[in-house]
Amino acid sequence: MARSIVVTSGKGGVGKTTLTVNMGRIFASMGLKTVLVDTDMGLNNLDVLTGVENKVVYDIVDVIENRCRVKQALIEDTQTTGLFVLPSVHSYDKSRVDAQSVRAVTASLKTRFDYVIIDCPAGIELGFHRAVASADEALVVTTPHLSAIRDADKVIKLIKSYEIKKISVVLNRVRGDKEYSGETITAADVSEMLGVSVAGVVPEDDGINALSSLSEPCKKRSDGYRATELLCRNIHFGSGAIYDAQRKYRGLFGGIKRRMRKIV
Ligand SMILES: Nc1ncnc2c1ncn2[C@@H]1O[C@H](COP(=O)(O)OP(=O)(O)O)[C@@H](O)[C@H]1O
Ligand SMILES: [Mg+2]
Repeated sequence: MARSIVVTSGKGGVGKTTLTVNMGRIFASMGLKTVLVDTDMGLNNLDVLTGVENKVVYDIVDVIENRCRVKQALIEDTQTTGLFVLPSVHSYDKSRVDAQSVRAVTASLKTRFDYVIIDCPAGIELGFHRAVASADEALVVTTPHLSAIRDADKVIKLIKSYEIKKISVVLNRVRGDKEYSGETITAADVSEMLGVSVAGVVPEDDGINALSSLSEPCKKRSDGYRATELLCRNIHFGSGAIYDAQRKYRGLFGGIKRRMRKIV
C-alpha cells in the first residue's frame, strides 16, 4: 500500500527539503519507487536541490490545469533508479491552486509509487494547508532549538485537525558532542515536550549538501546518510532503531573528538 508523507516544520530552514531529497534517495535505493512532490509554489527549490531544474518542462500546476498528464511532468533522477521529482512552479498566483487539486495529484501518484514524499513550504498558510491536506502521514522536522520546537508544537496541533493517520518528529542538526555534555535538548526531551514519538535523529553533517544534490555522488559513508537510512528503515519496517549522535563522543577517543570539535 503506497504511503504519502508530508515533511513539514512551521519554521523555515530546519532541513525539510534536504531531508525530503535524502529520504527519496534512500527509499529508492531500498527498491521502493519514490516521488518527491514540491508544493512550495513560487519558492520552489526541490528541483534546484535535486539538480533537475534544467530538465523541468511541465510542473504540478500544468498537471492540475490539465496541460499535461502527471507522467509527463515527472523527472527521473539520473543516479538513483526509481526516484522521481514532481516540480513546482517558479512564479505563479499561488491562490489559484486549491488543496483538493493537489490532493488529487498525490492520490494519482499513490497508484504508481510506493512512497509519495511532499515537501511542505515554511509557515502555516495556504501552502501548508495544501501540502498537509494531500498526505496520510506527517513528519515534523525540528532542530534542537526552542524556537524550532515551539513552531513544531504549533504545527502538530494544527496537523491534528487534518485527516493525518500518523505524526512523528525528526530531530535534525543534532550535535552529538553537545548532547553528550548535556548542553542541548535531546530526542527524548523533544518527544516529551511535543507528545509525539521521534522517528529519527539526523546529526549536523557538512556532507549533507552533497548527499542531497542528485547531480553529485552520494556520500554513503557519511553520518547524515547513515542516520537518514535508519530513519527510512524505521518508517518502512518499524525497526525502532534511531541514530545515536553521542556514540562517537563516548570513551577515550570520544573525549579527544569532543575537544577537537570545541577547537574547530
Ligand atoms: N543535518 C544537517 N547538517 C548540516 N546542514 C544541514 C542539515 N540539514 C539541513 N542542513 C542545511 O540547512 C539549510 C536549510 O535546509 P533546507 O533543507 O533548505 O531547509 P527547509 O527546507 O526546512 O527550509 C541548508 O543549507 C542545508 O544544507
Ligand atoms: Mg524547503
